[in-house]
Amino acid sequence: MRPRLPSLFLVLVLAASSQAQEMLPKESHNINWSKFSGFWYILAIATDAKGFLPSRDKRKLGASLVEVHNTAQLKVVIAFSRSQGCQTLKVTLRKDNKKAVFRNTLRGVKAFQVLSTDYSYGVVSVRVGRAGREYRNLLLFSRQTMSSFLSIRDFVDVAEALELLETTTILPKDASCANTILP
Ligand SMILES: *[C@@H]1O[C@H](CO)[C@@H](O)[C@H](O)[C@H]1NC(C)=O
Repeated sequence: MRPRLPSLFLVLVLAASSQAQEMLPKESHNINWSKFSGFWYILAIATDAKGFLPSRDKRKLGASLVEVHNTAQLKVVIAFSRSQGCQTLKVTLRKDNKKAVFRNTLRGVKAFQVLSTDYSYGVVSVRVGRAGREYRNLLLFSRQTMSSFLSIRDFVDVAEALELLETTTILPKDASCANTILP
């Protein structure tokens, strides 16, 4: 067993004691969104949406651009390499009244939530779906294309708590798709 950090222990306890999808590590209540905003590479993904990832030879780094419009609105762009090529999604999300979750149910984004961050990396949960079908995606955001040991460990621990560990994929360091949304 790998040693666990206290905050990761908290994540696991919360996951075990409540609905995993509603788990909220303490940090997510206090996110400074202006500090979190800007350009991120997506270095890893864990998802239960089968077929979301392209074949190995087409995998590339993803990217996300996060803009805060006021405290209750986020504009999020995500670029991701799929089997059809580099795809970009743009969506405006509104904050839930009670939870530290942003959503746009009309566009099928049920929850965008930062589960853990030190602002050099972030573990981001994006739940998407419609009409009873729901997919969970866990993304590792990083300001750089290189990942730190701590960020990978944090990501893997959250993926394990959400039972997405087996789907965890570290993306190859090809930034050609990510750079299409560079500001
Ligand atoms: C949030 O981050 C911004 C940008 O780094 C900073 O100017 C501001 O003071 C921070 N706000 C709080 C409440 O820490």
